[in-house]
Amino acid sequence: MQFVTIDPWPTPEPVDYRPELEAGNVLFFPSSPFNLPERSKEFLRNLNFSGGAIHKNVAYKPSLDRVTGVEMESDRLQRLHEIMRDYSSMVVEFATALLPQYAPHWKLDYASFRPVEEDGRDLPLNKRNDLIHTDAFPSRPTNGDLILRIFTNIHPSKTRNWITTDPFPVIAARYAKDAGLESIARDAASAAGRLKNTSVRFLRNAGLPVVPRSAYDQFMLHFHEYLKRNGDFQRNTAKYRFDFPAGSTWLTFTDVVPHSVLSGQHALEQTFIIARSSMANADQAPVSVLERLCGKPLLETGQPAR
Ligand SMILES: [Fe+2]
Repeated sequence: MQFVTIDPWPTPEPVDYRPELEAGNVLFFPSSPFNLPERSKEFLRNLNFSGGAIHKNVAYKPSLDRVTGVEMESDRLQRLHEIMRDYSSMVVEFATALLPQYAPHWKLDYASFRPVEEDGRDLPLNKRNDLIHTDAFPSRPTNGDLILRIFTNIHPSKTRNWITTDPFPVIAARYAKDAGLESIARDAASAAGRLKNTSVRFLRNAGLPVVPRSAYDQFMLHFHEYLKRNGDFQRNTAKYRFDFPAGSTWLTFTDVVPHSVLSGQHALEQTFIIARSSMANADQAPVSVLERLCGKPLLETGQPAR
């Protein structure tokens, strides 16, 4: 895998960066390609989240225009909300210019502010950032689409330090069977599995807080935790380290590129769900990789790629 530096931005000629991202590379901008005002960054860095006033991160949900994950008095919360809204719309504008082929089809997911020093964070295993993993969201299955995340390090001086490893096709070939791919695919395709999924959809439509998941989403959620728990993988997989400097921006498919964060503080991030149908090489999507490995379909029938 590679870190592809883009400097200057905008590039003199348009470049289709989809193949770089889909192959499991990281696009890196040494200086941020959008300008969040210094006073906004200052405000974020000065928020005091001691005393349990924050969950894992501050989250901003663009579709609802809501900030969640934080408790504070209303005037500061309002300022935080405005900054997160501005940040999110700046990133969308930048990403639309960078990846115009994805933009008409993507789903805008949450943005986040990560205020806590990553080094030494006391989190339960499945939430730990320092163990190498692929991303999967329990509440938002992608049904075969991909998770693209754009990060900016807004710390004034400290780097944000990542370790990555070989991209999904390499890791899946080595570990997917051991992680239970065959049985997840088999169970989902069985009469009982299909009945269960139909029931979950029925309950969802009736307004109950249940999440229908394709076999692909079940596997990806399981694989996230499997990798974190697998000592052999954590110790012995190839490791590529990158220290993202203060002020830099980077993006990658975090379900294609296994990653961990060792240290760093004050990062902003915006997530996009990229439609598989808009990929330059759809056969590189994790779902296609897994379907080839197990020889079975992993998505619901009747749900074509968007
Ligand atoms: Fe992650």
